[in-house]
Amino acid sequence: MNPINPANHDEASVAAGRVRIFDTTLRDGEQAPGFSMDRRAKLRMAQALEALGVDILEAGFPQASPDDFAAVAEISRSLKTTTVCGLARCQSGDIDAAGRALEAARHSRIHVFLSTSPLHREHKLGMSKAQVLDTAVAGVQRALSLCHEVEFSAEDALRTEPEFLVEVFSAAVAAGATTLNAPDTVGYTTPSEIIELFEYLRRHVKGAEKVIFSSHCHDDLGMAVANSLAAVSAGARQVECTINGIGERAGNAALEEIVMALKVRAPHFGVDTRIDTRKLFPTSRLLSQLTTQPVQRNKAIVGDNAFAHEAGIHQHGMLKHRGTYEIMRPQDVGIAETRLVLGKHSGRAALRQRLQVLGHTPDEAAMDAIFARFKTLADKKREIHDEDLEAIALGQDPDATGPWRLIQLNTATHLGGAAASVKLAHDDGREAAEAAIGDGPVDAVLRAIERATGNDLELTDFNVRAVSEGGDAQGHALLTARHAKRDWRGHGLSTDIVEATALAALAIVNRIERQTPAATPVAIAHL
Ligand code: KIV
Ligand code: ZN
Repeated sequence: MNPINPANHDEASVAAGRVRIFDTTLRDGEQAPGFSMDRRAKLRMAQALEALGVDILEAGFPQASPDDFAAVAEISRSLKTTTVCGLARCQSGDIDAAGRALEAARHSRIHVFLSTSPLHREHKLGMSKAQVLDTAVAGVQRALSLCHEVEFSAEDALRTEPEFLVEVFSAAVAAGATTLNAPDTVGYTTPSEIIELFEYLRRHVKGAEKVIFSSHCHDDLGMAVANSLAAVSAGARQVECTINGIGERAGNAALEEIVMALKVRAPHFGVDTRIDTRKLFPTSRLLSQLTTQPVQRNKAIVGDNAFAHEAGIHQHGMLKHRGTYEIMRPQDVGIAETRLVLGKHSGRAALRQRLQVLGHTPDEAAMDAIFARFKTLADKKREIHDEDLEAIALGQDPDATGPWRLIQLNTATHLGGAAASVKLAHDDGREAAEAAIGDGPVDAVLRAIERATGNDLELTDFNVRAVSEGGDAQGHALLTARHAKRDWRGHGLSTDIVEATALAALAIVNRIERQTPAATPVAIAHL
């Protein structure tokens, strides 16, 4: 199916300093324990990655399973501008399966790989150097007849003799490969070593000027991103990476970190990418939802703490000039705003600023009292939210419960939906009983509580986790809901997660009732 598709083999822009982003979230990422996705999830993710602007999307390993094959085929039919890539060993069965799966792709690439290191040659493949060379060439040639372009990877390249790597890569170029990938398969290399290798390869591989060198780094020693960036500084013009850094063992280089490093330090690296960086955060969260794996809180670029400041000194600095403690704007990665988290380390300046946003302008004496109560509460709680602050500012007890209590809860699930009924008691003596149906038990319970209390809750975040182990584990539900143009949060704890959810929803309703009418409430603490 050659020659190379002109639309996606944009030599001029690569020469001008563009690094191609090769996303392997759906292949290297998805094959890691805990991250598997069904076909629907993969398609959704692929469409998000295309919208993000990845140049090449490795959609799967078609020979690995019928489901992987079908996912690659479906993604091939769906994507419009992104090159769709399928992985294959240098074996005819793999390559033919990849070719068939990619048939409908507007831009297709087969990624053939073969181990080249002495360890892999001897213990994994049982092949001599000559056999590796012949197999690589045959693999590239076969792939070339089935797609628009071929990438060749020398698995475990960073532990391969550089002279042999040059031989294999030169043969792959002669056979028609246009991208040469040197993976650090086991996450062993260092930035200075990878620079040396890429410079060596670019000097010695025959036809180096016609091809794109690619890096693919694993994170076993926590250096995947640093090594990928080092490879770029040594001339790599494709980086293989994954959203949130998911991948085999410790993972792959994180796409969002590489892209933002190239952007924030543009004068240093002198190259750019086609990624729409404002879509990084939503894409990261989509992956987290589809795989039900949370993003670590302190994860660079997309973690909850990436643009959050709690220390009083930092908050004071941030209020004076954002640049004091932030090297990029949260909006550039798709996060709405910087968060000044109010906790025990926060100072008066941040507290006063947040109170003002919430519509409170206490005088100095009132501020002294509010600050003292704030510090006492902050010693007990990890984070102080708007609803706590308002209670303090209004002279209420932030730990108060009620007025509504849950008396009875029943749910019934059936295929495609659920029904729930609740009975609630109010401190003023009223009782309310309501029933509702929903997409699932949680949805049904929320609707029943809305009806019983007369409050509209638009659920914006829902998180349930086990806080102990075993069959009688306690489930903790954390809900955020939008009501009257602001976010409200509530927690619930129970051995039954639907009950935990009901308690969390009731905590929100109770806060709303205790604080209504609130003075100009606004969303969670933002700058
Ligand atoms: O890590 C690795 O070597 C790989 C290859 C298949 C490119 O994932
Ligand atoms: Zn890999």
